[in-house]
Amino acid sequence: MNKIRLLIVDDVPQTRKDIIRLLYFEDDMDVVGEAGNGVEALQKINELMPDVVLMDINMPQMDGIKATERIRQAYPEVSVIIISIQGESEYLKKSMVAGARDYLVKPLTSEDMALAIRTVYKQQHLRSTQDISTHVQIASSANRPTSESVNNELGHSKNPGGRELPAADGREPVGQWSDEASSQGRSREVQPLGIITLVFCGKGGVGKTTMATNLAVVLAQNEKKKVALIDLDLQFGDISVMLNLTEGKAISDMVREQKELNQETLTNYMLRHFTGIDILPAPLFPQDAEYVTPQHVGIIIKLLKESYDYIIIDTAPTFHDINLQALDVADQIMLVANRDLATIKNVKTSLNILDTLDLRDKIRLVLNRSDQDLGVEIADLEKGVGLVVSHMIPSDERSVISAINKGVPVVLSNGTAEISKSFRRLGEKMISGKRLPAEKQSKALINRIFSL
Ligand SMILES: Nc1ncnc2c1ncn2[C@@H]1O[C@H](COP(=O)(O)OP(=O)(O)OP(=O)(O)O)[C@@H](O)[C@H]1O
Ligand SMILES: [Mg+2]
Repeated sequence: MNKIRLLIVDDVPQTRKDIIRLLYFEDDMDVVGEAGNGVEALQKINELMPDVVLMDINMPQMDGIKATERIRQAYPEVSVIIISIQGESEYLKKSMVAGARDYLVKPLTSEDMALAIRTVYKQQHLRSTQDISTHVQIASSANRPTSESVNNELGHSKNPGGRELPAADGREPVGQWSDEASSQGRSREVQPLGIITLVFCGKGGVGKTTMATNLAVVLAQNEKKKVALIDLDLQFGDISVMLNLTEGKAISDMVREQKELNQETLTNYMLRHFTGIDILPAPLFPQDAEYVTPQHVGIIIKLLKESYDYIIIDTAPTFHDINLQALDVADQIMLVANRDLATIKNVKTSLNILDTLDLRDKIRLVLNRSDQDLGVEIADLEKGVGLVVSHMIPSDERSVISAINKGVPVVLSNGTAEISKSFRRLGEKMISGKRLPAEKQSKALINRIFSL
């Protein structure tokens, strides 16, 4: 079987790596090269003759639109898929006119990307086998740009591939521009929602980080939503591991290096992930946690509220002053539970403290690994803690482990798995403004339960 040969063009090396990782398990395709801008892309196409080019838009020297135009003129047998970020709708039309075969909007799943690549490849294959005679005729016509002319502009005198160069025109309308792509590309409204969701549990290992990370991504996947993900597990935060962040600075670096925290400084330290979310990572070394004070946390959250629709905060499993500060300003606290007695006891204790802090109205109980029967029925759990479960996320060891190994959230690495669907439903509930159902038992009952 001939593998589909891919060239990845993006000026950010990490994004290129992320794309390669997303396609790692696709057996029918091979990434044959990478390029950091349009000029380099044309050189690489000349050398490597890929079937499909995955092209970023904004790049130095020659941007993705211009490069696409040149590719369509000089190498019409090479299909270009433009990869854009949300809010770049103006590029959709330009990409189409330039001759791109498809237009994908980040964040992307492995499936989305692989499907688009296979579709354009098949269409290209069909075109070249059906239209071979037409191509020969067109190629002999005068006044058409050749790869030589393109290479000349690039400072190359020869096309070592020695390919015969077909027409620049005859760009068919691009068939697979979906409504979804165009709606995702619409520009966002200016006023951010500024909703703060804190993911918490007094017990470690219940799935807080898994929840925070995937929730952030599904919210960002929704059109026009700007999402920030903050790792407030300052000593042992592992969002960087889960999302394979190898570059960038941490929250502790920001508070140490900057005298004043304002929108500009924050923007400089927030790390843009290829999924579209902006991340403020935890310190690399646990001892650096002490540089971050509750006052810093208060200011950072306030600033984020002014510029993001959703701010998701991952936390350490304790009630220290950093968490208390964040709990205080959160609009919603997702209290994560599992169906085992130790966690349930801990959830009860956490609830007791949150109750004392007068934070009860913000709490929503989310049951992670909900289908894992660890000896406690869900109804008994609800009765025991005095809250109804607002949302359930099933267990899926395989998908979650594979996602961590890839450094890609499960909602992207295995978008069709039940766990991913469940995260998407949670995001939809939040976006549609439906409040997750609150507890049905009265405060008095809770107090009775705690006093048992
Ligand atoms: N729904 C799930 N199905 C399968 N595995 C899961 C699920 N949720 C979490 N896990 C796994 O459980 C482990 C703990 O998850 P996670 O790190 O998200 O918990 P945490 O509450 O953030 O832990 P900590 O308190 O140590 O920060 C991880 O290995 C994660 O992959
Ligand atoms: Mg965690």
